Amino acid sequence: MSKEISIKVKDREGKIRLLTLPIDMNLNLMEAIKLNNIQIDGRCGGIALCASCQCYILSNHILIEKSENETAMLSEALNVKPNSRLVCQLILSKDMDGLEIELAQEE
Ligand code: FES
Repeated sequence: MSKEISIKVKDREGKIRLLTLPIDMNLNLMEAIKLNNIQIDGRCGGIALCASCQCYILSNHILIEKSENETAMLSEALNVKPNSRLVCQLILSKDMDGLEIELAQEE
């Protein structure tokens, strides 16, 4: 079984990047995006308390349910859409292969 997945990321300048990411390092998607030198703040360090890692899910993937903390944070954030998620809450897994996301504009 492959230990890598591909995820397409549209950054805040509209540039699309195809990332190949490991699924055996317990990384969340925000950490993986940062490691690929794409600008994303992640001000709270990945504990669902800032929404600076908000993205829109563009593909039809079924992701893990939002936690209460993620739901609460998104209820207070700006630029939220029905397909908004906090990428710091998404641990890379094989189910995410082919995922397409767009980073939300900063608040
Ligand atoms: S990094 Fe703060 S909510 Fe994701």
